[in-house]
Amino acid sequence: MKEQLATKFYDTYGQQPAATYFTPGRVNLIGEHIDYNGGLVLPCAITLGTWLCLAPNNDQVIRFKSVNFPEEANIPLQAGYTKDGPGWYNYPLGVFNEILKNFQIPVGFDLLYFGNIPVGSGLSSSASIEVVTAYALTAYLELDLDRLALVQLAKRVENDFIGVNSGIMDQFAVAFGEKDKAIVLNCDTLDYKIVACDLGDHNLVIINTNKPRGLAESKYNERVEECQTALQLLNQEVKLNNLCELTAAEFEKYKHLIKDETILKRATHVIEENDRVNLAAKALSEGELEEFGRLMYASHQSLKDLYEVSGQELDAVVEFSATYPAVTGARMTGAGFGGCAIAILKKGQEDDYREKLTAFYEAKIGYAPEVYVSEIGSGATTI
Ligand code: GLA
Repeated sequence: MKEQLATKFYDTYGQQPAATYFTPGRVNLIGEHIDYNGGLVLPCAITLGTWLCLAPNNDQVIRFKSVNFPEEANIPLQAGYTKDGPGWYNYPLGVFNEILKNFQIPVGFDLLYFGNIPVGSGLSSSASIEVVTAYALTAYLELDLDRLALVQLAKRVENDFIGVNSGIMDQFAVAFGEKDKAIVLNCDTLDYKIVACDLGDHNLVIINTNKPRGLAESKYNERVEECQTALQLLNQEVKLNNLCELTAAEFEKYKHLIKDETILKRATHVIEENDRVNLAAKALSEGELEEFGRLMYASHQSLKDLYEVSGQELDAVVEFSATYPAVTGARMTGAGFGGCAIAILKKGQEDDYREKLTAFYEAKIGYAPEVYVSEIGSGATTI
């Protein structure tokens, strides 16, 4: 990949790249929509991701080009950028904007991106492009930013520049992921543990519903606000910084404070999901795949009924998977509203599962999903 990209870079800019970097995408095994509520999440990095080749220039210009998209931009190097339309290069532009708040960037850059994460699939293509840019600039310019600071910077880009009030899970997972490992991340304290993700004779399978995630951003921000409302209501009697400070049992005592049915459903999901992650992390470490799978199904059900971020496409995948004997557990992953589901599938059953799921899904939804066995890869790196 590095050589192919170097050739492309040469064809595009007429010089060799000075350096090449990679950052993966991620799947979240369980713990959905709770990172912005101070909850526990259990993501891992995948092997799909974003590559970035760069070379400095003396023109004081940042040139953004991508192998994937036709739009490109030449932007003078200066502080104080704002988002410029819907183009892909806003993600890296936001990273330059954040870095320029605290550091001098002494040269311009010629940048060429290539990604193989399906865009809008919920596998964090945006965190991947943000983190690869932040990582590359940090490494190339030897900036004084450690991996966590870089993750926090990328999150600020998503929140303040792009305008999605997301939590820290995606940026953290794509920066800190390790091969064949999952991350147990406490999104309140940012304490984390890298744990083995040993699925024995099963594989992690990603199912892309191929449903474009149309209104995802506005619906996402709406959920974040609903959780803030729930927190304010509970704070009439308890003192909480985050919803996930309450266990499900404690929540029983205070939930009468939330009269609105929708807000109550959102808070119930958040608090129960957090408990499920604790159980799931234990099940994973003990090799209890059946229990892990049960928790995955329970998580999906809650995201469907209480948090209302699933949809008929994701539900169809999970509904089929639950009837397929070689699947131990399945659920939507990421923000929802389309995008991807994951399943834990017995090795050797991939072709049969793909075939039968596709027939079921096509009959119900009208077009085909994509199914791929996922490897768990490493986080941001220089290659
Ligand atoms: C998106 C956000 C994450 C997280 C998930 C849902 O991927 O970027 O911060 O909230 O949705 O768990």
